[in-house]
Amino acid sequence: MIVLGIETSCDETSAAVVDGGRKVLSNVVASQDDVHAPYGGVVPELASRRHLDVLMPVVRRALETAGTSLDDIDGLAVTYGPGLVGSLLVGCSAAKALAYARRRPLVGVNHLEGHIHAAFLEGDPPIHPFLALVVSGGHTALYLAREPRRYERIGQTRDDAAGEAFDKVAKLLGLGFPGGPAIERVARSGDPRAIVFPTANMTDGAPDFSFSGIKTAVSLHVRRTGPLDAPRVADVAASFQATAVKMLVRKTVRATLRSGVKRIVLTGGVAANSALRESLEAECRERGWILHVPSRRLCTDNAAMIAAAGHDRLEAGERAPLSLNAVPDLALA
Ligand code: KG4
Ligand code: ZN
Repeated sequence: MIVLGIETSCDETSAAVVDGGRKVLSNVVASQDDVHAPYGGVVPELASRRHLDVLMPVVRRALETAGTSLDDIDGLAVTYGPGLVGSLLVGCSAAKALAYARRRPLVGVNHLEGHIHAAFLEGDPPIHPFLALVVSGGHTALYLAREPRRYERIGQTRDDAAGEAFDKVAKLLGLGFPGGPAIERVARSGDPRAIVFPTANMTDGAPDFSFSGIKTAVSLHVRRTGPLDAPRVADVAASFQATAVKMLVRKTVRATLRSGVKRIVLTGGVAANSALRESLEAECRERGWILHVPSRRLCTDNAAMIAAAGHDRLEAGERAPLSLNAVPDLALA
């Protein structure tokens, strides 16, 4: 089954053609970084307007690159939440119009399930049961996937998402937007042990995350030390990154031990971070667990992962009505 995926939940406009939920025939991602960079963060209204301008050309390019036309598409999959409501509406409206005009089945996909399905697009697909750490700009959560299309949330952030912390710390350090890749780049020349930042521990023992404390600690550090020169900025970036990675990895390992599964999927924009990938990889190697990490371009927002997740739901007979609406706070479990 060939599925056309559409993703417009935040600030990437993307369309992809995926065969059998596994084979990426095309995956076009139009980044809006140039629109939002001057504001240091995503401006929702500007995001929806840009989606409106570029979505159809992006869909056309995805079809062309795949060597397909709309006639070859067996079904459509679109992100309907969670995300920015105006942005989601652009993708949902386009997908509904295409499905209706071409009389093709349509399915709505949860963006977070999409991130997890990025792991099915390369190499050996994850076998259930597995644990998924989804770390992005808007979400940081641990899910237990015992069987296809069913998830149990076993941990989440109690305040900021990990990506949000990367973005805010980058802003504090004057590194620009988006912050995650900038922190990673600058951290390479810094000393991760230069500054000790606090790690959050839940007193109730829950496998939940918290990133507001470390963000405040970085802010206080910068205020105390005054203007930082480039080597000091690198040390702060490296120390922050090391602490954030330590928190993510420690909680994931504990949750994996508790759940008894031996397979982990690491995904979402922050999973593009090399320090995080390497640290979790080392833990898994040591314990004999299997780690699935999509390549970097599939970790960040893209429509191939939405087509992959949508494929399995379409195959299972799931259909979205033409009344499908955006659900900004849609939960996965
Ligand atoms: O999944 P994603 O593309 O969009 C959301 O669904 O939120 O994630 C975007 C987030 C941003 O906060 C960005 O700073 C972060 O992922 N990110 C990174 C890296 N690349 C992207 N964080 C750390 N290191 C990176 N290399
Ligand atoms: Zn995302």
